[in-house]
Amino acid sequence: TTSAQDLAKQAAARRAVELCRDGMTLGLGSGSTAHFFVRALAERVADGLDVVGVPTSTSTRDLALSVGVRLTDLETDPELDLTVDGADELDGNGDMIKGGGAALLREKIISRASRRTVIVTDESKIVTTLGRFPLPIEVLPFGWSSTTRLVARLLREHGYEVADLERRRRDGELVLTDSGNYLLDVELGAVRDAPALALALNQIPGVVENGLFVQMADAVVVGRSDGTADLRE
Ligand code: A5P
Repeated sequence: TTSAQDLAKQAAARRAVELCRDGMTLGLGSGSTAHFFVRALAERVADGLDVVGVPTSTSTRDLALSVGVRLTDLETDPELDLTVDGADELDGNGDMIKGGGAALLREKIISRASRRTVIVTDESKIVTTLGRFPLPIEVLPFGWSSTTRLVARLLREHGYEVADLERRRRDGELVLTDSGNYLLDVELGAVRDAPALALALNQIPGVVENGLFVQMADAVVVGRSDGTADLRE
């Protein structure tokens, strides 16, 4: 059986597919909601919709290939028309926390390469203040423990109480991103001044990227479990 949340995600995905037109180059997001979008897109492609996608992760690449969505890359298509992606948290300014699925680096590159980014979500991801979801920070393996200390120090200077920062593990194994890096997941509680924090984090050598996506959602499609969805610009 499909959960109410999955029905809401599917409704958002189907509404977002209506934004896709023949000839478009699309950024294909990661995570379960974005994957519903790729599947819904594939149904339209089977009916003749002519689009190409750039995947934000190896898992999205594998899914797109398996359902028959044609792929390209940023070398061939450095500017994309539209990216459709999910989010872990999203506020009313179009600011987000992303990276729960470990794909933040390619997601940010692909969103910035796109004329428009539309976020597909259910109501549960929408917050007034970001920060309940731990902020993912991608760090290079080289020097990671030094980098991590600098990250912790910076966060304390910005007024956040941070405990020891651990690298993300799954089933006890260290998680490596698609680019071969580690992830730190930092509990911030409430993010103040996301633009300044995002900028400061990325100034630390060894920090590859952070999961604060500042004003990167141009529109949001919020799905509901009854199958309806709102497009909010
Ligand atoms: C991937 O790194 C994240 O940025 C995803 O966009 C996020 O985890 C959303 O996933 P769900 O749609 O499964 O919640």
